Amino acid sequence: MKIVIIGGTGLIGSKTAERLRKHGHEVIAAAPNTGVNTITGEGLAKALENAEVVIDLANSPSFEDKAVLEFFQTSGKNLTAAEKAAGVKHHVALSIVGADRLPDSGYLRAKVAQEKIIRESGLPYTIVRSTQFMEFLGGIAQAGAVGDTTRLSTGNLQPIASDDVADFVAEAALAAPANGIIEIAGPERARLCDFVARYLKAIGDSRAVVPDPQAPYFGTKLEEGSLVSDNKPSIGRIDFNRWFATAPRK
Ligand SMILES: NC(=O)c1ccc[n+]([C@@H]2O[C@H](COP(=O)([O-])OP(=O)(O)OC[C@H]3O[C@@H](n4cnc5c(N)ncnc54)[C@H](OP(=O)(O)O)[C@@H]3O)[C@@H](O)[C@H]2O)c1
Repeated sequence: MKIVIIGGTGLIGSKTAERLRKHGHEVIAAAPNTGVNTITGEGLAKALENAEVVIDLANSPSFEDKAVLEFFQTSGKNLTAAEKAAGVKHHVALSIVGADRLPDSGYLRAKVAQEKIIRESGLPYTIVRSTQFMEFLGGIAQAGAVGDTTRLSTGNLQPIASDDVADFVAEAALAAPANGIIEIAGPERARLCDFVARYLKAIGDSRAVVPDPQAPYFGTKLEEGSLVSDNKPSIGRIDFNRWFATAPRK
């Protein structure tokens, strides 16, 4: 069948496209640099012609509070309207575990707004909520960095490798719409500060990590369970050591 992946050139999008093509599906990797833009609407109707499934894996170019909200709202509205016009039968989107528990984070508010547009669109849908990608550990370290130390939350993290995320997203796209949320997570849970310290040690970065229950995580304070799921999420196969052994170094 024809499957359109919005953000099909990104980290998760390109891996999901590869998996679905291996299953013999016709996959369009849609993104501004392939002529499809969900903000301007450019190329959208043409890309969606005869598509049965659309997977939204786009991300905002800016994480600033107002810009990110505008991105997910405009993109979500344009995309769901175009899907309805094209007769798409299943909309799949990737969101974040705990997004609705952390309204002080502008990025997570934007993901909640994206989810609402999907739920209210009338399209059959599956929202896959994932924990943080292992590929994002460096970004988390950077966000907490002040000089030679990095002050990080003691809330729990259960990161998942992008290869596992792509497996789960591809599986969801080929299954019947859940018309609800499914959750996915990595195999190991530890305090965010401890996971990042492990990552920094592994890459030979000597910066000290200071555990701080008050340290903000992208604009919000975390409770112990804010970013993890206890709703029996599907668990990825790749643990930190296995991921790190094959992860591309920047
Ligand atoms: N990072 C995490 O830990 C995490 C956890 C759970 C869920 N998520 C979610 O996972 C999703 C995918 O993240 P990712 O890291 O794979 O993203 P990414 O690598 O940054 O890729 C983003 C993709 O979106 C495309 N895009 C940007 N603007 C667009 C537009 N106007 N129209 C169409 N496509 C557009 C980009 O195309 P160009 O390259 O051409 O700009 C690119 O293909 C995001 O929705 C994110 O919220 C992330």
